[in-house]
Amino acid sequence: MCGIVGILGTTPVASLIVDGLKRLEYRGYDSAGVATLERGRLDRRRAEGKLRNLEARLREQPLDGLIGIGHTRWATHGRPSERNAHPHATDKLAVVHNGIIENFRELRESLQADGLRFESETDTEVVAQYVTREMRRTNDPVAAVAASLAQFRGAFALAFLFDGEEDLMIGARRGAPLAVGWGEGEMYLGSDALALAPFTDTITYLEDGDWVVLRHGGAEFRDQNNAVVQRPKQKTSAGAFLVDKGAHRHFMAKEIHEQPEVVGRTLAHYIDMATGRVRLPFEVPFDWSDLDRLTVSACGTAYIAGLVAKYWFERFARLPVEIDVASEFRYREAPLPRKGLALFISQSGETADTLAGLRYAKENGQKILSVVNVPTSSIARESDVVAPTLAGPEIGVASTKAFTCQLTVLACLAVAAGLARGTLSESEGLRLVTELIAVPGLMAETLKHEHEVEQVARDLSKVSDVLYLGRGSSFPMALEGALKLKEISYIHAEAYAAGELKHGPIALIDETMPVIVIAPRDALYEKTVSNMQEVAARGGRIVLISDAHAAAESGLDGLENVVMPPMGADFAPIVYAVPIQLLAYWAAVALGKDVDQPRNLAKSVTVE
Ligand code: G6P
Repeated sequence: MCGIVGILGTTPVASLIVDGLKRLEYRGYDSAGVATLERGRLDRRRAEGKLRNLEARLREQPLDGLIGIGHTRWATHGRPSERNAHPHATDKLAVVHNGIIENFRELRESLQADGLRFESETDTEVVAQYVTREMRRTNDPVAAVAASLAQFRGAFALAFLFDGEEDLMIGARRGAPLAVGWGEGEMYLGSDALALAPFTDTITYLEDGDWVVLRHGGAEFRDQNNAVVQRPKQKTSAGAFLVDKGAHRHFMAKEIHEQPEVVGRTLAHYIDMATGRVRLPFEVPFDWSDLDRLTVSACGTAYIAGLVAKYWFERFARLPVEIDVASEFRYREAPLPRKGLALFISQSGETADTLAGLRYAKENGQKILSVVNVPTSSIARESDVVAPTLAGPEIGVASTKAFTCQLTVLACLAVAAGLARGTLSESEGLRLVTELIAVPGLMAETLKHEHEVEQVARDLSKVSDVLYLGRGSSFPMALEGALKLKEISYIHAEAYAAGELKHGPIALIDETMPVIVIAPRDALYEKTVSNMQEVAARGGRIVLISDAHAAAESGLDGLENVVMPPMGADFAPIVYAVPIQLLAYWAAVALGKDVDQPRNLAKSVTVE
């Protein structure tokens, strides 16, 4: 991960670079730095911690160069500290890096054998030193970078600035994303179009393996064989304004509250509201009825959206689904069927493992469908067909509105697949769409009870362990509940399929361990009630997320109920996401945690 911004400007660039970096803080925020050329000489400022620390450093010791590079870091090699912060520099150049140089140890040994000294524990410093050694040989920065890139293994995006070169910047991309922005007599480099949006709406994406030589007057692109290539300019719609929190304390709160609107907007994109039928906004380059299997892969919360979708595709479309986290899928050499569709789900569209899984599936003859929130992302660009989620920019690191929009799109796809495969009748299709259309209203209704959820969360914030249970499609929702709580409140939480309780986790139950049961009133509700009885019999404390009628029906005394509106069971996971998110949010707030930027995490994970 990590974010990169570079500017060849006509006015001082340091504060502009920091503005661009603020839009990339979702990629990492453990340290940051900027380097510029001042009267031709390289100078840099770096600071541990969030960007505000770098801003303070720049206020004390400004940089006024007209050309510069900047970086916000998510540590991979070397702990977050000023010494390990980018840019890394030598007397000849400064470099910022997103990704991992996998062969950095052997390169460092060879450089040390040449008498070169390293200041940091990072893999990136190897890049700085290696290119510097080439420069001493060739005395030409462009030739030095060309000769060096082939020596680096791993995935990376790089931006270089050279001492004494006021009209030169070099960018390179392998695996991690990088884009060039076109201005009037100015040029830009950035990890994504969002970072460059304050400066330009004209972007060229580097293709994998490309590198680029930037000068104030333009850019020359080279491919991995160093041949000069043309890459198209595109207009982007990434807004120049920095998304704000509105009246909310945190982006996460704002994004939770936006869900009725963005889920509604996403539904309107996939459903013809006049006829009440699903109408996919794209042609699919395959025949649903001809598919043998759907292979799904994703990471984090997007993976959990895939787990929920498995229940829908299997039930509505009778399509066998195989699902795996992308970091496993990419390496386990899964045999894939001849008539197979592979589905990748990603908010950012840049997650390294998901992208690698996509490439594996493609090489193995699968058609590629992706559900992404960023339509210009690498995953979107490498897919045969893209099903967009219309969640808008999601800033909070813990995914909320992107998740419910992913579920919404996946629900529509599963219904479309069922109709196309003849496993859903017209009337069942219409009933399901009616249920889907009710979802935004039910989410809004649920949000009205936020205060009650907050009370439960305050109690939750006092414990050290929590168990989440659910059956059927509520089992992945239990996983999502535990993940959300862990990532933002740092309370240990685990999730189990409710029926699995008796095979181990029941040993943990005592009066100190809250058990959160996610159980909309569906065909499995009574089975889950039996599991709650087992918890109650051992003195466990149960928080049931379900409607009031279901809670009363359970006959259990002393049950705490997060009250949900009554609803059809099929798409309940989309609505039940709301209290799950609110529980984690309010527990984290009660504990005074940094909700939007939890420790050690990043929003976009472009390293393995
Ligand atoms: C990170 C984020 C998660 C996200 C996951 C996958 O771990 O913190 O919220 O679910 O990456 O990201 P993607 O962009 O592929 O959905």
